[in-house]
Amino acid sequence: MKLTLSVIKADIGSIGGHIAPSRALLEKVRALVAERAKGLLLDHYISYTGDDIAILMTHARGTGSAEVHRLAWDAFLAGTAVAREQGLYGAGQDLLKDAFAGNVTGMGPAVAEMTIEERPNEPFLFFAADKTDPGAYNLPLYLAFADPMTTPGLILSPKMAKGFRFVVMDVNCTEGDRVIELSAPEELYDLAALLRDPERYVVESVWSRATGEQAAAVATSRLHNIAGKYTGKDDPVMLVRTQMNFPATGEILAPYATAHFVAGGMRGSHNMPLMPVALDTGTSYFDGPPLVSCAAFAVHGGRLTEALDCFAHPFWDSVRDRAAEKGMEMRRQGFFGAAMLPMGELEYTGITEKLKSLDGRFHMRKEAERAAA
Ligand code: F6R
Ligand code: MG
Ligand code: MG
Repeated sequence: MKLTLSVIKADIGSIGGHIAPSRALLEKVRALVAERAKGLLLDHYISYTGDDIAILMTHARGTGSAEVHRLAWDAFLAGTAVAREQGLYGAGQDLLKDAFAGNVTGMGPAVAEMTIEERPNEPFLFFAADKTDPGAYNLPLYLAFADPMTTPGLILSPKMAKGFRFVVMDVNCTEGDRVIELSAPEELYDLAALLRDPERYVVESVWSRATGEQAAAVATSRLHNIAGKYTGKDDPVMLVRTQMNFPATGEILAPYATAHFVAGGMRGSHNMPLMPVALDTGTSYFDGPPLVSCAAFAVHGGRLTEALDCFAHPFWDSVRDRAAEKGMEMRRQGFFGAAMLPMGELEYTGITEKLKSLDGRFHMRKEAERAAA
């Protein structure tokens, strides 16, 4: 059967700053989705990662369905009302437009969707990251789908030997979706040349070249492109199908053991390691560290099993320890050099304003002055 997996997430308010949504807020979102799901959705699952609530939905209405998007939008609106009642911080933060116009893309919430021909057994992973942006998935996707050092399936499985096609988006382009398609392994160096710059070039989807099936869908929205200014990091969600013609679940998860540095953390303006965490984990140290959670599912006829919590396994404790060490090490150098993001990526305008005012105080040394200096 043709099945659509849609995940739509938003930050609509949280307790204690940008830590995590309240129980009442989550319950409101859950209640509204449950009430309206009948006849529309086949199943759904709601979780949070940091201050973001994600609604994962299965249905037969295809990607970009106005009804499905409206359901998520309405659930976030209802949640926002509770967030306001409770005085939560950043109530309605990611709902950047007033009126719903048929699709939440471009309205603030992040969306990852794919329509698949459901396999007799259909394992897939749902990732949610907080205090970072969509480029955070560039490295793990490259390693899992294009690097045999990470994914032995690329050399061991005949089904994977044809490689994968990457669709990469230039997220700096505000006029429309500027994308390029690159095939691994032939165009590996071209792919690497783009993915090394995760603030500009972001993997949007990955496809099997053996079967043409979609393997991964990433939310690539950039909030500042919508609001015209930074309003927070984009906190991306991602769906990845696993096994058979795709990398195994363990091959998809393995790259997160790197705890690689990503853009985000405090004021969305730093480089900090991405920490794999259990589902429903809030943020803490330095408004971070940037977090990623992963729920594993089997889906059959659109019905989801319970979610398994991939990063709750004891293996990830030592990765978390190392991520904490890396984070603290980076923090030792405060605002200097690599610790903070380059000018164009800073979430706050304070520095730009300061530099503008200092610029007027610079002067060119005169010849005589130079000789004396
Ligand atoms: C990062 C983030 C936080 C806030 C910080 C200041 O994406 O959301 O680090 O930037 O807590 O928040 P405001 O400016 O809302 O006081
Ligand atoms: Mg927030
Ligand atoms: Mg967030």
